[in-house]
Amino acid sequence: MCGIVGYVGYRDCTEVLVDALSKLEYRGYDSAGIAVFENEEIKVAKSKGRLADLTAKMEKEGMLHGTSGIGHTRWATHGEPSDRNSHPHGGERVTIVHNGIIENYKSIKDFLLGVGRGFKSDTDTEVIAQLLDYYYDGDPVHTISKVIREIEGSYALGIVFEDFPDTVFAIRRESPLIVGIGENESFIASDVPAILKYTKNYYLLEHDEIAVLSKYSTKIYDLHYKQITKELKTADWDMDAAEKCGFEHFMLKEIFEQPTSIKTTITPRIVDGLPNLEECGITPDILNSFNNIHVVACGTAMHAGVVGKYVIEKLARVPVNVDIASEFRYRAPLVTDKDLVIIISQSGETADSLAAMRLAKKLGAKTLAIVNAKGSSIAREADMLIYTHAGPEIAVASTKAYMVQIAVMYLFAFEIALAKGMIDENECRRLTSLLQKTPEMIENILESKSETQHIASSLIASDSLLYIGRGLDYALSMEGSLKLKEISYIHSESYAAGELKHGTISLISDGTPVIAVATQSELFDKTISNIKEVKARGAKVIIVCRENYEPDSDVADFKFGLPDFDDLLMPMLAVVPLQLIAYYTSVLKGNDVDKPRNLAKSVTVE
Ligand code: AGP
Repeated sequence: MCGIVGYVGYRDCTEVLVDALSKLEYRGYDSAGIAVFENEEIKVAKSKGRLADLTAKMEKEGMLHGTSGIGHTRWATHGEPSDRNSHPHGGERVTIVHNGIIENYKSIKDFLLGVGRGFKSDTDTEVIAQLLDYYYDGDPVHTISKVIREIEGSYALGIVFEDFPDTVFAIRRESPLIVGIGENESFIASDVPAILKYTKNYYLLEHDEIAVLSKYSTKIYDLHYKQITKELKTADWDMDAAEKCGFEHFMLKEIFEQPTSIKTTITPRIVDGLPNLEECGITPDILNSFNNIHVVACGTAMHAGVVGKYVIEKLARVPVNVDIASEFRYRAPLVTDKDLVIIISQSGETADSLAAMRLAKKLGAKTLAIVNAKGSSIAREADMLIYTHAGPEIAVASTKAYMVQIAVMYLFAFEIALAKGMIDENECRRLTSLLQKTPEMIENILESKSETQHIASSLIASDSLLYIGRGLDYALSMEGSLKLKEISYIHSESYAAGELKHGTISLISDGTPVIAVATQSELFDKTISNIKEVKARGAKVIIVCRENYEPDSDVADFKFGLPDFDDLLMPMLAVVPLQLIAYYTSVLKGNDVDKPRNLAKSVTVE
């Protein structure tokens, strides 16, 4: 996820663009750049690093002066964070900034290389700039319409043409873009926060609508060059709320971003209905070259690994050992050159996980990193790399990053099971198709968020509670428990439901809250028996299960119902109420949800 802005008006464009981008850095901050019309020429300044680095570079090399231009703050997807991969990107006569992912950029790039076009970056964005330049016929709107019909994927584009000084063009599909309307000035931005300082009035650009911002007018066209009249909206957010897109906390915003994050993460890795991780360096031969898998991570990332363990072992019959990184690195782990070590990390900078990966490499193992932060240390040092595309995760408590981590583990599990001949192509296609259905199902579950608010209100006075489940439900309960602990400060523990009777059930007394996850059909009756054991001893039970199950009074006091879905993928649905329960419990306790006490977003120390 990146932030794009554009400006046409009477103010110092560089100042406006940098200020507007600073309000979008939550969308991405690994590099930044602007393009400004200076004396009717497009001048570009861009740099790896934060906006401050860009400003420092301009102060050193000379500020750009003009009253119109475009800007970008990046969350890299294609091409590591670097000066050359920073936006804006240009052809000879066209310069653009882009938020989104172009799925067919390789075939377009091959075509352009074939007609003699050269490229200066590794980005998918530059392909659009070069294609606009290639088709440019003197009419920007016509050129944009032509190019849009050839590209597949998600985009919000800010575009300037050398022949049209003081004019900014924009178009979007999937990625958000608004057109801000001020007094004798207009803006484009990925999000409302960027323009609130100047105006609260904006148009919401719909898919494939082309905006033309010039000094004297702002017009919007469809792809057939027909001018469109749109409703002018007025933002009623303050600045801080706007960065959260109206959500009260980043954590809630990120929970609601999960459907989009899944789509942007898995879509580029599914070709003809089958997982395809070749761009990450993973081929069937490589998948068949090792005997054991170790998944090493910390916290939530480790919990994603536990879900991955259950799925990989069930489908591919390959042994998977999941380890906490801080233990793995000091336990002389039994890792050989016949093993694969998977490091999962949102930040890509967790000290224990980085050290564990270096140890694994020293022991001769192949390493695969599943990382969200582009260009991070773990991403750079791994032998193979699968980026998750959740966008920046601001809340310390991980939600969307966890969701895309397990989504990637599913893709990996399907591919390795197919490579080892444990499932056939039809089954692999079926499972992949189920994975692609999860975003929509999660969107439906998110509509029931008020039920989790009610559950949370019953927990806030608790000192301690248990999360229980069997199989994948147990794996998932680990994440539910951590979410609650780290933001509500209420002690909780996840426990294998079948193990309770071996001691821990002594903790149950009258009113002890127990959150039971029961989504695995083959284990359902046994889980219900375990739930009855705690209920009989006074527990207050909240069951997360399929909505078609009606628990008797001796089973649960409250039910959160989930839509019926394949057992194997239920963790992607069941984690959502667990995230929301933790979130609302923290809110009701008046805690700092996004920045809980004692925690940091990335633990870069031992
Ligand atoms: C997640 O909610 C926690 N903030 C924490 O457990 C986190 O998952 C852990 O520190 C690992 O971080 P990483 O994914 O960036 O490596």
